[in-house]
Amino acid sequence: MTSSNYHTPAPEAQSPGPNAPGRRQRSAEITKLEAELQHTYFPQKSDEDLLDRLNDLLDTFENYTDAVETMGLSHVGRLKEGRALAIVGASGVGKSRSLERAFESLGMNDRKSPFRIISIKAPSPCTLKQLGTSVLQALGYPVRRELRENVVWRKVRDQLKLHGIRFLHLDELQHLTQLENPSDSIKVCDTLKGLMQDEDWPVWLVLSGMPNLAAVIESDFQLRRRCTFVRLDLMTPCANDLQTVQRIIKNYCKKAKLEHQNLPMNELCSRLMHGAEGRTGYLIEIVQDALCKALKARRNMPLMGDFELTFEARTGCRPEHNVFAEDVEWQNIDVRNTLFPEDKEEDEVPQPKKRRLKIVRGA
Ligand SMILES: Nc1ncnc2c1ncn2[C@@H]1O[C@H](COP(=O)(O)OP(=O)(O)OP(=O)(O)O)[C@@H](O)[C@H]1O
Ligand SMILES: [Mg+2]
Repeated sequence: MTSSNYHTPAPEAQSPGPNAPGRRQRSAEITKLEAELQHTYFPQKSDEDLLDRLNDLLDTFENYTDAVETMGLSHVGRLKEGRALAIVGASGVGKSRSLERAFESLGMNDRKSPFRIISIKAPSPCTLKQLGTSVLQALGYPVRRELRENVVWRKVRDQLKLHGIRFLHLDELQHLTQLENPSDSIKVCDTLKGLMQDEDWPVWLVLSGMPNLAAVIESDFQLRRRCTFVRLDLMTPCANDLQTVQRIIKNYCKKAKLEHQNLPMNELCSRLMHGAEGRTGYLIEIVQDALCKALKARRNMPLMGDFELTFEARTGCRPEHNVFAEDVEWQNIDVRNTLFPEDKEEDEVPQPKKRRLKIVRGA
């Protein structure tokens, strides 16, 4: 074998990539519509609240900088500390996406903005030290050796100052394993307060996560006092929320250039609400995926079957547990337990009770 033969793979050994025989053919027009569907944001009332609270947070920062300029740091009084905004809600309600959008609209991702924000997703699971290390990495600081937790967070403060960054977003904070343990959770609260209270370089925080994050903040009055909140609630089958679901369906049908008149709208909205457990973002994803199925089938109207297939793919459920299937008592389907419901019943092992978080601090 010559060296050139050796280095040039035989044609049949080359990866066929997108042209592999099993790969479905994609049409450029449909691919474009799908992309359009998937990146279109559906504006909600909570977006206004979020923007409002974020604006308030930016105001407190500008008040601080104005006061430091006119009166000097030692005279700024209560303005001298950073503040925090906490966004709490169940998984899939849309916390990360709506924050991303709000940061964008406030220019907070702009490198030159005085409000520039660094956004970190807490690794899962993670310790306070690992979270600090993630912040350092996002700031481009090479973490080459094991550092102690307090050293990591001191470096975070130094690096934020070095890069002129005043805003830090910590997402998925519930991944901090230390939140489970009351004494460790105190350390988390102290670290967050330490960032806001730094004499030299106070930092303004945006904290987002699941509802247990709120429990931790509420457990520490000093932290709570420095926070404002936005709660993203689950939707419920009330008339208002069902109307929102209807607007979501119509909005995305329009985007995909699909008709919606043939859909049993009231029925579909109620089933969607149940299937998505009222999680707005997840519900939107189901609608988008179902409409993509109609597009791929080259129909100009979606069918209930598109939602049924989407739900099956999303949950792995059997037809009798599919909330979109005909002749099922969808209201009685436990949508969190559809993959192997019977096995679970048989194998059910009683789980140890979770310790309740009970911390009382600084009254
Ligand atoms: N208003 C919206 N318009 C369009 N898509 C949305 C909207 N809100 C959320 N989504 C989509 O829904 C999905 C879930 O949203 P997101 O990731 O923001 O939820 P989350 O609350 O952060 O969930 P988790 O706690 O699991 O991180 C994402 O695909 C997101 O793009
Ligand atoms: Mg998220």
